[in-house]
Amino acid sequence: MPYNDFREFLAVLRSKRELIDIDRHVPLTDVSKVMKHSYVLQGPALQFNDTGADHPLVSNIYSTRSKALLAFEADESTIFEKVLKGLDNPIPSVQWSGPAPCHEVIITGDDIDLTRLPVPTYSSKDGGPYITPGLVVSKDPETGVPDIGHYRFLILGKNIVSFSAQPFHRFGKNIIKCRQMGVKCEAAIVLGVDPVIAYAAQVQVHDQTDDWSVAGGLRGAPVEMVKAHSVDLEVPATAEFVIELEVDLEKNVMEGPLGEYTGYYTPASMKPLAYIKAITHRKGGLFQGLLTGKPVTENHILKQIPFEASLWRSLSKQFPTIRQIAVSPAGGVSFHMVIAMEPRFAGEARQVILAAMTSNTRPKWVIVVDPDIDVRNPNEIDWALSFRVRPAKDIIVIDNLPAGPSDPSVDLSRPRPERISSAVGVDATRPFGEPFSEVADVPGWEEFDVPELDGR
Ligand SMILES: Cc1cc2nc3c(=O)[nH]c(=O)nc-3n(C[C@H](O)[C@H](O)[C@H](O)COP(=O)(O)O)c2cc1C
Repeated sequence: MPYNDFREFLAVLRSKRELIDIDRHVPLTDVSKVMKHSYVLQGPALQFNDTGADHPLVSNIYSTRSKALLAFEADESTIFEKVLKGLDNPIPSVQWSGPAPCHEVIITGDDIDLTRLPVPTYSSKDGGPYITPGLVVSKDPETGVPDIGHYRFLILGKNIVSFSAQPFHRFGKNIIKCRQMGVKCEAAIVLGVDPVIAYAAQVQVHDQTDDWSVAGGLRGAPVEMVKAHSVDLEVPATAEFVIELEVDLEKNVMEGPLGEYTGYYTPASMKPLAYIKAITHRKGGLFQGLLTGKPVTENHILKQIPFEASLWRSLSKQFPTIRQIAVSPAGGVSFHMVIAMEPRFAGEARQVILAAMTSNTRPKWVIVVDPDIDVRNPNEIDWALSFRVRPAKDIIVIDNLPAGPSDPSVDLSRPRPERISSAVGVDATRPFGEPFSEVADVPGWEEFDVPELDGR
């Protein structure tokens, strides 16, 4: 059974000691230190009950693989199958009947004050407090198809924010389309929902996909929606907070710097403005925080399962002998990927490299290995790179590809559409059709009984 709401998931985390309360006062400029500390210990999610703001702040709920598995109600042996089955069986959203919990408190007009919310400043040189875990709901102004994706928001005043929406992400595309069509662009920032909805937002799908049905498929039950209070959009009825806004299609302001998912500050630059039209929340609303900055943070864990499943789904259609895909969290969950496959003919591993390079993930490193290599084990990858690769033949570099988002090794002062980079592909599979040395392992070691080692 899926979690009905955020609170139900938090209760499960608490019961498993995967969520703790911090009742002493921790200022919003220090909460990220506690978040990082807990992450380094692979520790629990955190509920800060006294930051000086009006609401508790819940963070680190995506910070470890164990919490991701709890979110999907799966274990390592079932997670991949479960996610793929969900992707193949989308379930459209349904309407909530009766008064929606997310509308228990409605704040409009002069009462709107973002500065009363517990919004941390994560890295010391950030341009100010950032809402980082917000699920942005927007829609294509031409087709009306809704999108959800994570986008960060810098608080500039009581009712003003600035934000970054890459032009190749759907919120960015919707803004561009609204400008071209001369229609207003509205959006809603949603916080505190069944975590599977947040993972669903990171699944890579084509632009005319209704993301709510992807979320429904992954949950195995429809997301229940209600019309937002002041914007023409639907939002999950049980959300803890909904911040409704209209994008200013004319003006830009300086936004940043921000400690990004790459682990580097992205310098401040001109970005769009938006005005808050309403804040709605549940009684006793729980606000959400999400640590960003040097990998690994919960930002990366949040992306890993959906990105791997999306890639597997698209690549395996053409290359059915792909067995495993790993996008490393330390590589920002997009810059470094390892694919295990059984090549069916000479050159197929190279085709896989090229197909992966052209995916929306924009990897900088693609390593293809044989199926006997565990793509999540760095020792096995190093072994394949060291002994199965003939560098002059097996390494390709493709230049003039679109750069990955916020890659600090490219010139970030150039406009985004002009940022180019290159990518490296390594065919670390054994040369196809040629004899190769036999692996010298210790066959039968797993079955050989060693009572002296019991309990280890
Ligand atoms: C925590 C988090 C914050 C993100 N912030 C941004 C952002 O500010 N701007 C952006 O363009 N992408 C951001 N992303 C990446 C997009 O959310 C992601 O690529 C998503 O798949 C885009 O979905 P969409 O194209 O369906 O909207 C963020 C991702 C995560 C996990």
